[in-house]
Amino acid sequence: MALRPFNLSRSVLRFNPARRQFQNDATAKLQKPPLAFVFDIDGVLIRGEDVLPSAKRALAILEGNNPFGKLPYILLTNGGGVSEKARCQKLTEKLGFEIRPTQYIQAHTILKTLSSKYEDTPVLVLGGKLDQVRKVAIDYGFKRAYTSLDFLSWNPSVWPFHQLTPSETLATKQVDFFKTPISAVFVFHDPRNWALDVQVICDVIQSGGFVGGPYVPLDQQKNPVELVFCNPDLIWRSDFSTPRLGQGAFKEAFQAVFKALTGSEYPHVQFGKPTRATYDYATTVLHRRVQEMTGHPPALSSIYMIGDNPESDIAGANAANWNSVLVKTGVFDGGVPTHQPTHVAEDVEEAVTWAIGVELDKLRQK
Ligand code: G3P
Ligand code: MG
Repeated sequence: MALRPFNLSRSVLRFNPARRQFQNDATAKLQKPPLAFVFDIDGVLIRGEDVLPSAKRALAILEGNNPFGKLPYILLTNGGGVSEKARCQKLTEKLGFEIRPTQYIQAHTILKTLSSKYEDTPVLVLGGKLDQVRKVAIDYGFKRAYTSLDFLSWNPSVWPFHQLTPSETLATKQVDFFKTPISAVFVFHDPRNWALDVQVICDVIQSGGFVGGPYVPLDQQKNPVELVFCNPDLIWRSDFSTPRLGQGAFKEAFQAVFKALTGSEYPHVQFGKPTRATYDYATTVLHRRVQEMTGHPPALSSIYMIGDNPESDIAGANAANWNSVLVKTGVFDGGVPTHQPTHVAEDVEEAVTWAIGVELDKLRQK
């Protein structure tokens, strides 16, 4: 549904912070879709399984309860572990507003752009519950995706300190890894068994892909194994009282072990917020969404990123020349942020109404 055009004779509402509501302002002239939003999820819309009350109010404003009518927005999270479709269904139920896969990006969504390169090549995919990320990888086009549980099923001696549970056994594929060289490792989501996954990554890299095979010094490997991480968050905010370790902490643990073994860290590719690749990807998704809704590409000055983590949400948005709003409902809970946002707000509702107020003022000044 296109944005409701404003005719100039119609007055435009102006946000009154004291009353936390909009009032008439007859001076506004509307040219293009005024603004678009990019929402982080954990610590902004939800905490663990709980929806933050301000989240539903914020989305209600964007879904039409403001002077501009329905406003475009996408969700950009460093979370993941399931398909975009499954996560959108769950978010739609929780938030009470339809969240479509065309307006949703998770940490590993960008791997869709890489899958053709690895279509028929065996790769190791890590993170998430059981073999869920394998299913996501196959959906993306990685036809030969294996998990660390597959290695344990193939040879329990790969990691003697964990015996497969019945549900893990059911989630494994029977493979002869002596004949299945792994050419790349993709850490899709937060690993559930750090020790097993660190062991298997070290094995894959040091043996040039043949786990259980002889170690080959890295400088003698013709095609070293590629290593890709999708989420650099050292910490993130769930429903626990203090932040939890994220995939970035797993990467630190792996690199520390690898360096202890080989003397140096292993080169890798990093995706996820705040990386440029992820924000460029998000920009194309947002443009497509705004185009879909309005028939116009957004005027760039009007993109607002709402996030709780200065290191990922704010740093990335600032580097992308977006407006960045830091909320206090997640990782950041006051003090001086490590990356300076355009604005600090108590919660996502205040963030959204502040941004709309800014764009109304811009119109009024025209
Ligand atoms: O595992 C997810 C976490 O690192 C952060 O998610 O939604 O705050 O980007 P989000
Ligand atoms: Mg967050």
